[in-house]
Amino acid sequence: MRGGGRELTYSILKEEGLSGVKLTALGRYLPSKIMTNDELASILDTSDEWIRTRTGIVERRIAAAGESTSTLAIAAALDVLNKRGIDPLSVEMIVVATMMADSPFPSVACKVQHEIGARNAFAFDISAACSGFIYSLEIAAQFIKTGATKNALVIGSEVFSKFIDWSDRSTCVLFGDGAGAAFLEAGQEDCFLGGVLRADGSGQNILHMPAGGTALPASVETIQNRQHFLKMNGLELFKAVVPMVCDIISDTCAQAGVSIESVQLIVPHQANVHIIKEVAESLEIPFERFFINLHKYGNTSAASIPLALVDAMQEGRISPGDLVMMVGFGAGLTSAANLIRWDKSFVGC
Ligand code: ACO
Repeated sequence: MRGGGRELTYSILKEEGLSGVKLTALGRYLPSKIMTNDELASILDTSDEWIRTRTGIVERRIAAAGESTSTLAIAAALDVLNKRGIDPLSVEMIVVATMMADSPFPSVACKVQHEIGARNAFAFDISAACSGFIYSLEIAAQFIKTGATKNALVIGSEVFSKFIDWSDRSTCVLFGDGAGAAFLEAGQEDCFLGGVLRADGSGQNILHMPAGGTALPASVETIQNRQHFLKMNGLELFKAVVPMVCDIISDTCAQAGVSIESVQLIVPHQANVHIIKEVAESLEIPFERFFINLHKYGNTSAASIPLALVDAMQEGRISPGDLVMMVGFGAGLTSAANLIRWDKSFVGC
């Protein structure tokens, strides 16, 4: 057989009493180039004050010319495997959440599989925009819970800087580049306590890239019309996501049978601090219970939640045994949330 992959081993792990899932390590990669609001204001009709007050963003990372979604994902993957001391040959499954792969195919996950030497893993990408990391975690967790695999490497990686319109001040100030990764392993105890994944395709045109796919293939005309860039109706999106996020937080708590008061930290997708403030107000949850780091990285879509988890660990905001909720929302429209118990076997960040 050429290449790698594996046969699914349904139920073997269950017989060994390993039908639970735990998150045991996190990794990340951030491009070294930092772009501040002031730098943006020097090339666009915008200001640090506008960006900071409307969004909460202060700076973001920008990938270098030779960096792509896969190079960021590979670096984050190596980081998490090193932290946990995992031999790449023992990785069984690789899932990459991304809105924008290096190219329409092959998948970023296959490139990661090859470059890190995970010959025994199968690999695929998930397209669920800013909910993609949670979609991917939950899919991977289901594989482990059924006993089909005993571990999974889950990555969120985005290079927005190469597909946003740098002449459109209403979008280009919002996004940044980065990658985050998590390692999941089978365990006796199940730390994945509840998850809700949702989609509402009626909102597909609120945030989209019109050209470059089969509906409108790239052409001189699409480039002249700037249709190969991200388009967003920010206000519509803002109005849609606040109730979506409130509902999914409440429903995930109900599904897991816990009250929101018992959740130590909520790690939301980092799009706009005002979205989080409105959600906190509507649900009457103290704003401090939400982890925010978007001032440092902007909106990194599928990478934002794992990047926030790493920062939350580094800042001592998560301890073993804590209940941590992740909640994502974005293009599609999609939304996703899950609740995990932080496992004592987690290796530091
Ligand atoms: N600098 C200065 N002025 C600006 C800028 C800028 N960067 N961008 C827009 N403006 C101007 C507009 O032109 C407009 O001017 P006008 O009143 O003269 O027409 C004014 O500021 C207000 O523009 P709005 O778009 O109404 O600004 P708003 O307060 O709604 O903020 C924002 C825009 C930040 C995008 C907000 O709507 C938002 O955060 N929306 C949600 C985005 C989101 O949730 N994304 C998550 C999903 S991302 C994903 O899935 C990849």
